[in-house]
Amino acid sequence: MKIVHTFGDVRSMSDGRVGLVPTMGFLHEGHLSLIETARDANDFVVVSLFVNPLQFGEPSDLASYPRDIDRDTALARSGGADVLFIPDVETMYPIQPRTTVEVRGVSAGMEGAYRPGHFAGVATVVAKLFAGIQPETAYFGRKDAQQLAVVRTMATDLSLPVDVQGLPIVRESDGLALASRNVRIEKHQRPLAVNLSRALFAAGDAFEAGERSVDALREISRTRVGVDPALDVEYIEVANASDASIVDRIEDTVFIALAAWVGDVRLIDNVLLDPGTEKADRGVRLDRPSILYGGS
Ligand code: PAJ
Repeated sequence: MKIVHTFGDVRSMSDGRVGLVPTMGFLHEGHLSLIETARDANDFVVVSLFVNPLQFGEPSDLASYPRDIDRDTALARSGGADVLFIPDVETMYPIQPRTTVEVRGVSAGMEGAYRPGHFAGVATVVAKLFAGIQPETAYFGRKDAQQLAVVRTMATDLSLPVDVQGLPIVRESDGLALASRNVRIEKHQRPLAVNLSRALFAAGDAFEAGERSVDALREISRTRVGVDPALDVEYIEVANASDASIVDRIEDTVFIALAAWVGDVRLIDNVLLDPGTEKADRGVRLDRPSILYGGS
């Protein structure tokens, strides 16, 4: 695996079918599942690692984002990447971009409402990665269900010739959705974080038992989340999986999603609800501690 820092270097090495896995680093098994899937389906796998300033609101959130390039290099290699693309900020944004990508509607609710400008930052950097790397396929996690809808919509609207694939959420053995930020959750507050996923699973169970009322499903999750001074729930919503519009009836595939602060760590999670199969997709669980905590 080669580490490169410019788009030109990525393109000059690319060979055959190119699969791209965009990340912000501090890799865990969620990222690895994307890399391994890309490995199986492509001739050449590019993993990008760029903590994109354009998608962060608070400068302190950008500053506290966990980073460890040596660890990421080893993990990307073990996942089967051919190239790890690590641009610096000056390469990605030599000047403040005058052209940005805004995906209207899809970006409006939930994350978009609580993090103004976030999805324009995501869509802009992903558009740059698609243009600069020219992958046939790009791999994203359903953990960020609204982000997936934003990226898919952008690719469709701008006729970008990239097949956008969404892959299942990978969870820790206690159910908590893997996120680089999990390393910052205080030990004594972890039960609150775990409870968030359990609250969504409870809605998933009710859905599978036949509950179709959006209000009832949201209420089940809200009750299960509970109340604690260290817990601040921003939203619990049910949204259409393809355009992230908030729904009050379940007709197509939807996700029930929440965002909450546990202490000073902001977490998001969701469960996919498919009325066609009558199944709730909770993703997959590790059967051992995550590599986030230093194991291998
Ligand atoms: P990052 O948070 O590093 O996530 C990179 C990719 O990994 C995203 O597609 C995300 O959905 C996926 N991912 C994260 N946690 C996951 C989990 N537990 N299970 C499955 N997939 C998971 O998302 C971003 O970076 C950025 O916004 C990016 C798309 C790279 C643009 O800057």
